[in-house]
Amino acid sequence: MKKLDDFRLKLGNNELVPIMVGGMGVDISTTELALVAARLGGIGHISDAMVPAVTDRLYKTKFVKQKLKKYKYNANNDDKSVVQFNLDNLAEATKMHVSKTMQQKQGDGMIFINCMEKLTMNNPLGTLEVRLKSAMDAGIDGISLSAGLHLSSFGLIKDHPRFREVKLGIIVSSTRALNLFLRKTARLNRLPDFIVVEGPLAGGHLGFGMDWAKYDLKILTREVIDFLAEKEFSIPVITAGGIFTGSDAVEYMELGAAAVQVATRFTVTKECGLPDKVKQKYFKADEDDIEVNQISPTGYPMRMLKKCPALHSGVAPNCEAFGYLLNAKGSCDYIAAYNAELAKHPTAKKIIVKGKTCLCYHMRKFNCWTCGYYTYQLKNTSLKLENGDYQMLDAEHVFKDYQFSVNNQVKLPEPEVD
Ligand SMILES: Cc1cc2nc3c(=O)[nH]c(=O)nc-3n(C[C@H](O)[C@H](O)[C@H](O)COP(=O)(O)O)c2cc1C
Repeated sequence: MKKLDDFRLKLGNNELVPIMVGGMGVDISTTELALVAARLGGIGHISDAMVPAVTDRLYKTKFVKQKLKKYKYNANNDDKSVVQFNLDNLAEATKMHVSKTMQQKQGDGMIFINCMEKLTMNNPLGTLEVRLKSAMDAGIDGISLSAGLHLSSFGLIKDHPRFREVKLGIIVSSTRALNLFLRKTARLNRLPDFIVVEGPLAGGHLGFGMDWAKYDLKILTREVIDFLAEKEFSIPVITAGGIFTGSDAVEYMELGAAAVQVATRFTVTKECGLPDKVKQKYFKADEDDIEVNQISPTGYPMRMLKKCPALHSGVAPNCEAFGYLLNAKGSCDYIAAYNAELAKHPTAKKIIVKGKTCLCYHMRKFNCWTCGYYTYQLKNTSLKLENGDYQMLDAEHVFKDYQFSVNNQVKLPEPEVD
């Protein structure tokens, strides 16, 4: 019986354990989590989502405060187009996060950064260019382009000295999106080094409509592999979304995948950035506690725990401090939804905005409990304690369970004694 460790992922000259821990935005996939994956010979991700807010928390920088101070005068103005990110600060924050991570890296694995195009930051191309180039400057091993078609992304960095050396890949949910991307990159004579096919059972934003349940990761993976073979492109395909055990992973490897990207099982590890009490919510979730909704202002559906505080909240937009989802015109669907609700209840002390949420505020506060489809099975991966909570897991334990388990088994941790 095969186990995932019987396979290896070849990326250029690197031979890796075929496990990639997916990027989880706003520091849910922390430096510590990425370091474990790299130490054990796989690939870990950090994320560049809201990185100035992340370095403020981790390294006591003051980027958010400075931005708010500069633009506070605009707080009552619905037009946020003046609220621009300082590109030098953005570069500094990104370099700080990446270099502090890379300096600690040990082992034969790699560390990539997840970079979402939908983080438009009131200047989509300008800020994206800075984010990508700063990560490359600071020594990142690879970049996973996500949440968007990324038709301009390779062009933005084509003159960077590391353009042909750093591992570049994209996350797609259809051959159509992949085809559009490859046509663009072909013009630069630079193919991606890997492609992640993400299916409908993943956490975070989904690359499908609300008809996500119609799609099947096995079929999508096969389609992408066949499409690449037809074009005679030899690019490793990494498959993601709902791969819960080592045996699930082996099924995909036998189908022709080069590796798997996994995330949900790592949300309940000590190294994951979610607060402990939120990790317990993930452990305790039942199947009907989870929904796919449309409250993200990005327009993509997102999978979430129904009880998370990001739902039915009505915080006032604070784009002067954050503003990560402001489009090129300085607006965001949450501002529109908030203002519509405010107009209906002008004297109310507290309003509730049902259709959309302020993702910046709630991600920053770890209030948006986005999760994968199989979150309700996490309780079967650990030990229940006397107080009803579950024992937190070591990321190494989860990684090795994917690597070595057979027969769809999940290895439980040794009981911890305090
Ligand atoms: C809590 C959480 C946050 C996520 N955030 C992001 C993100 O910021 N960017 C992204 O490209 N994918 C994100 N994802 C998707 C994962 O990187 C990964 O591809 C997917 O969840 C794998 O499926 P699994 O969770 O069933 O293992 C997130 C997933 C989870 C569970």
